[in-house]
Amino acid sequence: MINLKDKIALVTGSGRGIGRAIALKLASCGAVIIVNDLDEDSANETLKLIQTSGGQGKVYSCNVTNSQDVDKMIDDCIKSYNKLDILVNNAGITRDALLIRMKEEDWDLVLTVNLKSAFLCTKAAAKYMMKQRSGRIINISSVIGLMGNAGQANYAASKAGIIGLTKSTARELASRGVNVNAIAPGFIQTAMTERLPQEVKDAMLKQIPAGILGEPDDVADVVLFLASDMSRYITGQVIPVDGGMVMN
Ligand code: NAI
Repeated sequence: MINLKDKIALVTGSGRGIGRAIALKLASCGAVIIVNDLDEDSANETLKLIQTSGGQGKVYSCNVTNSQDVDKMIDDCIKSYNKLDILVNNAGITRDALLIRMKEEDWDLVLTVNLKSAFLCTKAAAKYMMKQRSGRIINISSVIGLMGNAGQANYAASKAGIIGLTKSTARELASRGVNVNAIAPGFIQTAMTERLPQEVKDAMLKQIPAGILGEPDDVADVVLFLASDMSRYITGQVIPVDGGMVMN
């Protein structure tokens, strides 16, 4: 059993889906969770689930694309708990369209929410983690960032960007005891994928050697490993969690 007792973890976009599963998983191993989401009601719901299973945490509802709000959230975390051990950059969105029809504002929005937010949170957290000489940063990328996908140029670029951010920060922070890794989930059943047309889902399924879709817990299990001491000697890596969709 992995023990995260006394660890403080911030999970962005943890009001539902993969982020919520990550928050619950880390809490079940003893971590105190800062539940961040743009949607305050869903963040409160996640906190309630944590508390009813005997865990602890608090809600910090803010938009992780706003640098002042991000700095304040992380400063408040340090004021409350004196440290931040684990940061999971999970918040993300899609605004799909074929390239020639893609609106500039949808390009900007997806890059800002999916990539800039991770930069802002990492920058704010790294300041403290470097002083602590310990920390775990886990970025949620996507197989789409590795493979590309028609209709998702903005999303693919943002998720490929996450990989570059992960590797660069891993190199900068490794000597300070801070590990930075990314997870590239495949097709995971959440609200984000629920709205895809059935024919897209069927086509995706054909590309998955395991023959099944993933669950948020499949991603949360790998986050747990990366957040724990068991991943001490792993940094700058991208771990696919995709039923075999991408094999390097
Ligand atoms: P979701 O749409 O179910 O949940 C995303 C959460 O992030 C929502 O609660 C939303 O309110 C929050 N959020 C969005 N923008 C925010 C902002 N600016 N500030 C704070 N919170 C914000 O999505 P899902 O499926 O749980 O995805 C989570 C992450 O995993 C995303 O980064 C996504 O790109 C990635 N991913 C998901 C896959 C899937 O198949 N579901 C596959 C690969 C990656």
